[in-house]
Amino acid sequence: MRGPAWLTAPEDPDALVPHLWSQTARKVDGELHVGGLALPELVAEVNTPAYVLDEEDFRARACAFREAFSSYDVFYAGKAFLSIAVARWVAEEGLSLDVCSNSELTVALRAGFEPARIGYHGNNKTLIELRRAVEAGVGRIVVDSFDEIERLESIAAAGLTARVMIRVTAGVEAHTHEYIATAHEDQKFGFSITSGDAFEAVRRVLAAPGLELLGLHSHIGSQIFDSSGFEVAARRVLALQARISEELAVTLPEMDLGGGFGIAYTTQDDPADPAQLATEMSKIVEHECRALGIPEPRLSIEPGRAIVGPAMCTVYTVGTVKRVQLDGGAVRTYVSVDGGMSDNIRTALYDADYSCTLASRGSDAAPVLARVVGKHCEAGDIVVKDEFLPGDVRPGDLLAVPGTGAYCRSMASNYNHALRPPVVAVRDGVARVVVRRETEDDLLATDMGDQ
Ligand SMILES: Cc1ncc(COP(=O)(O)O)c(C=O)c1O
Repeated sequence: MRGPAWLTAPEDPDALVPHLWSQTARKVDGELHVGGLALPELVAEVNTPAYVLDEEDFRARACAFREAFSSYDVFYAGKAFLSIAVARWVAEEGLSLDVCSNSELTVALRAGFEPARIGYHGNNKTLIELRRAVEAGVGRIVVDSFDEIERLESIAAAGLTARVMIRVTAGVEAHTHEYIATAHEDQKFGFSITSGDAFEAVRRVLAAPGLELLGLHSHIGSQIFDSSGFEVAARRVLALQARISEELAVTLPEMDLGGGFGIAYTTQDDPADPAQLATEMSKIVEHECRALGIPEPRLSIEPGRAIVGPAMCTVYTVGTVKRVQLDGGAVRTYVSVDGGMSDNIRTALYDADYSCTLASRGSDAAPVLARVVGKHCEAGDIVVKDEFLPGDVRPGDLLAVPGTGAYCRSMASNYNHALRPPVVAVRDGVARVVVRRETEDDLLATDMGDQ
């Protein structure tokens, strides 16, 4: 059975491909260690499936973004993964925080995150949600529709001030899967620059008493590996900024270029590092502002995946191994694990690629091409489409999937009444459960029976 052309059997199945794993991950006699802890011992305590979060790695990546983009405000995008502990690490590493729902705001506030350093996103914020954010003193609300502007006007009429950014669609299509490319025109986010809606939104916010317009916001998509998409977007957004300056005599002090910095899920992915992106993006903005004759706005970015994605891996226990005869005589090895699309929907939703490794023992068995699948009632319940695993992979083995920090726990579901796994932070040989495993009581607490 052949997998994709780029996938080759590892020469040493005990070696990790470093850029797919968090910085403290290593194999010791075939056992995977993260944060100074052997995962077989860790999961003996917490069970599987479990997300293992390498705290040192998370902090190092957050710090790398803050240092590389030192003249920017770096907002960690909490939608990738947010918990009280993570919000505190973000604050301690000197980053700001993006939330995109009322409940994410609650987590941030519960963590004691300074409201003035929180940005609030979303394409459908209710009056109640907006009022709460403004009353809490959230530093910036990114408006996404004329309805929201009206809602903020009515809040401001009660004597409150809202600091606002306007999300615009720059008409750039990031080269990623369609559902995660957000800046082409036919989608739900932002005000179109081309149609004139973005300019009109600026006019309305500027005319509204109690609304303070900080600047324009553009997010072009996800899993972006170079600065070319940002370049086109920045050029278009700055052209709008120049028009605003010329026609409305207003200099907008800030501009946000969004998130979307890519990470490596497989050996095929080769993301740029933050320092390189920072240099390129700053040059683009500087050059464009000079050409347009406008002052450079203070820039901000919103990385989520690039900070938390590689910092986490998911550990599963193998339950069954099945060899399936395909047309033409090839055999595919199906390895079923004790989680699946309820803890990682990205493979089913985005056709995402992942890799994995045997985490509980070494093996000299010849590698076989395997497909790692979950235990849910859905044929598309695939965790890793193709990976070489030792041919003696068997029930009871542990498998670890790297790069599951972003959009896995945060998108996890209770499909088949699955209990969402815990997030266990590991650092210097110490494990802390920062999000506990759900229980059947948690699930049944919302089931009101047949009264
Ligand atoms: C507005 C906005 N900012 C930032 C992000 C974070 O993107 P990523 O996690 O890919 O960096 C997203 C992701 O959807 C987003 O919609």
